[in-house]
Amino acid sequence: MKKIIIAAMALFVIAGCNTSKEQKWDTTVVPAVNGLQIPAGFENWAVIAVSHRIDRSSVRAILGNDIAVEAARSGNTNPYPDGAIIAKVAWEAKEDEAWPDAIVPGKFLIAEFMYKDSKKFAANGTGWGWARWIGPERKPYGENKEFEQECIDCHSPVEEKDWVFTYGAPFK
Ligand code: HEC
Repeated sequence: MKKIIIAAMALFVIAGCNTSKEQKWDTTVVPAVNGLQIPAGFENWAVIAVSHRIDRSSVRAILGNDIAVEAARSGNTNPYPDGAIIAKVAWEAKEDEAWPDAIVPGKFLIAEFMYKDSKKFAANGTGWGWARWIGPERKPYGENKEFEQECIDCHSPVEEKDWVFTYGAPFK
């Protein structure tokens, strides 16, 4: 009997792992002051687009979890569906050692995230949660919760596009 129960529990765990798309969090990283945590495994998310800030001399990859990537690829972005998380990862821009005309990622600078939940984040007027971590040590950005307003103010030119600058890059 005991064996059957253990086998059933094991099956349940395996099935749970395969079907659960629930977002997990990296609890080894200090949360942002607003309580948001860094999504576990975001390094493996798919690319929505890339960008290059010439004024900041940095290159960026804009990545998304499954919900965000699906929405970006299908143009279902105004508004983005709840559960979508968009990441922007920035590196120092540097010349490729073997080909100086190529600008490639250098030092890791920041990873920042927008978390869509139209109910949970209704109070800040955007329906998104905002958080940023700095440097390889992944230090949370911001002294207090007010830092969100900085993010929101700068994203206000795209308020009509659900506060998102990035569009899904074409692949053909
Ligand atoms: C100085 C203006 C400015 C500030 C402040 C700012 N952003 Fe952005 N953000 C941008 C611009 C411009 C883009 C477009 C792509 C790029 O810059 O590479 C962007 C893109 C993003 C993206 C990718 C999705 C999109 O909108 O294109 C995320 C995620 C993001 N920002 C999060 C944040 C968070 C979190 C904060 C606050 C901690 C923040 N941003 C503060 C200007 C800003």
